[in-house]
Formats: sequence, C-alpha cells, structure tokens
Amino acid sequence: MIMSNTEQTLSIIKPDAVERNLDSEIKEMFLSTGFKILKEKKIQIEKSEAEVFYKVHETKPFYSDLCAYLSSGPIVVMVLEKENAVSANRELMGATNPKDASDGTIRKKYGISIDKNSVHGSDSIENANIEINFFFKD
Ligand code: CMP
Repeated sequence: MIMSNTEQTLSIIKPDAVERNLDSEIKEMFLSTGFKILKEKKIQIEKSEAEVFYKVHETKPFYSDLCAYLSSGPIVVMVLEKENAVSANRELMGATNPKDASDGTIRKKYGISIDKNSVHGSDSIENANIEINFFFKD
C-alpha cells in the first residue's frame, strides 16, 4: 500500500532576506526541493501582531527584540505543501543559528545571525495549522 503524508506548513522569509532581495532565490530553493507554494503574500506586520505570532516565546529573554525585528520590514509569508512538509522545511532551513546550520540549507547560505536567520518555519503540524490561520484566515 502506498502511504501519502502530504502536509502544509507556514514559511516566513524574514526582513533581513527580503531587504537583500533574496525572496526569489529562497522560493526557488523551496520549489527545487519539491515544495508547492500554495499561498503567498508580502506584508509588513505591527509589533503587536508579531507578539501574538511568537506568543510561545513570550517568556524568553529575546521575545521583545524578536517581535520588534519581525515587524521591522516587509516579510513574505507562504503556505508550503509537500510530503512531511513540517520536517522537510525544517531540514531545508537548517539550524536556528546560521553558525550551526549544515551546508545546503537556507540559513547556512543566507542567515546572518540567530535573529537575522532569514526564514521561519512551523515546528509542528499543530503549530503549522495555527500559523497558517494566523496569516491566511479565509
Ligand atoms: P524562528 O524559527 O523564527 O523562531 C523564533 C526565533 O527566535 C528564532 O527563529 C530566532 O530567530 C530567534 N531567536 C533569537 N534568540 C534566540 C535563541 N537564543 N534561541 C532560539 N531562537 C532565538
């Protein structure tokens, strides 16, 4: 029996990458790895919205800076689809800190620092659903 496990996940191309006009190159990395981009929009959010988006991190010391950063410039938000999309996206992004990211990953190639790490991706199927609904309510 052929088992299919198609999932959707949320990806954000963060301000540091959009500012450097890397969004097309990063999208190409998703497409060439077999992801479909089902939805996509370029937006800038308020800090108050970033605080809701990153609420899971509200007790962390970096929370305020993180929310200020995500709202500091335009971002590209996308719904990606693939087999095991959540883990496949995390693999393609690489480690949170670009210094620790493996060759061939987005963060290794484009990330500047742990804050300016170019992309965000959902960390679980449950959070993917929450994050997709946050940006694409309809
Ligand atoms: P992201 O995948 O968007 O999820 C939360 C973000 O917090 C993470 O990427 C990093 O950019 C940022 N961050 C800043 N400092 C830290 C830290 N010490 N540990 C983990 N994430 C951090």
